[in-house]
Amino acid sequence: CQIKCKAANTNTKYCEEVSEVLDINWDDLGFGLTATDYMYVTKCSEHGMFKKGELQRFGNIEMNPSAGVLNYGQGLFEGLKAYKKEDGSILLFRPQENALRMRQGAERMCMPAPTVEHFVDAIKLTVMANKRWVPPKGKGSLYIRPLLMGSGSVLGLAPAPEYTFLIYVSPVGNYFKGLNLAPIHLIVENEFHRAAPGGTGGVKTIGNYASVLKAQSAAKAKGYSDVLYLDSVKNKYLEEVSSCNIFIVKNKVISTPSIHGTILPGITRKSIIDVARKEGYEVEERQICVDELLEADEVFCTGTAVVLSPVGSITYLGQKKEYVNTKDGGIAQKLYSALTSLQMGLTNDNMGWTMEL
Ligand code: COI
Repeated sequence: CQIKCKAANTNTKYCEEVSEVLDINWDDLGFGLTATDYMYVTKCSEHGMFKKGELQRFGNIEMNPSAGVLNYGQGLFEGLKAYKKEDGSILLFRPQENALRMRQGAERMCMPAPTVEHFVDAIKLTVMANKRWVPPKGKGSLYIRPLLMGSGSVLGLAPAPEYTFLIYVSPVGNYFKGLNLAPIHLIVENEFHRAAPGGTGGVKTIGNYASVLKAQSAAKAKGYSDVLYLDSVKNKYLEEVSSCNIFIVKNKVISTPSIHGTILPGITRKSIIDVARKEGYEVEERQICVDELLEADEVFCTGTAVVLSPVGSITYLGQKKEYVNTKDGGIAQKLYSALTSLQMGLTNDNMGWTMEL
């Protein structure tokens, strides 16, 4: 039996429907990889355009040991999610934004990138080919991971001569342990920095994530959920958490560090700002001094994987500040509900952000 990926009208390739039994417990999804049926792959040369790609069974890929991505980290990734609605249809959330961010990152990393249309069509095709892996409503989402890699061989430092655009997917549940909206515990990093002015902190290059592992592992070993980074010039202003952006709330005014090249321009960050403004909150994008954490009423993090996580405590220079969880969950809970209702199709999408497959 074959399925036609009807949503991707520019690519009418058929793929065999996989008949193996789905061995998955939808009630026990964390944020780990589950191998699914198909991945999307296409390649192009250094100055070329990506060809229409194809679906392949999900599995290992071959790469020359001298590939640019393996030797010099010439690689980018994206993350977005698909949710299943009650009626079985599938919703994507703002895939064009990921396509644009990948294009901006590719420019910084000297890589060719798929067009927005190609990117979105490839996402639709991959999701439809793996649609049996989209968790039932309320059980989680299908995490979509597009990769752009310098796959051609280089020995001397230079852009790779060939590039691979690949998309794989995995059903996921909550990023941090615990239920939705379980508070996380952060430690402010005082020695290591995530990014420097003029560097690549503002794009989703793979090296930004490898470089935080040391601090993150040390924090986890001490029982913290993740690390909050400060700016590398003054060691004083909030930047972001290893895997997400940060917001603080004081007297109902919401603030988040402004984007100036060292902070990842999160799509969830941008969406939460718009949702909050629509709900009538004042939102400031500005420099936030680490001392403001002591005075904040609420702190929360946002990201595609994380969605929105309230922060229960932050430790800075040995001092722990705890944030009291109000009965109604506060502003974090309100914004979480507003955003996820849109993403899951529980409310009318008056923002025009979702794409139904
Ligand atoms: C995402 O939120 O999609 C990310 O890319 C963060 C990653 C560390 C899981």
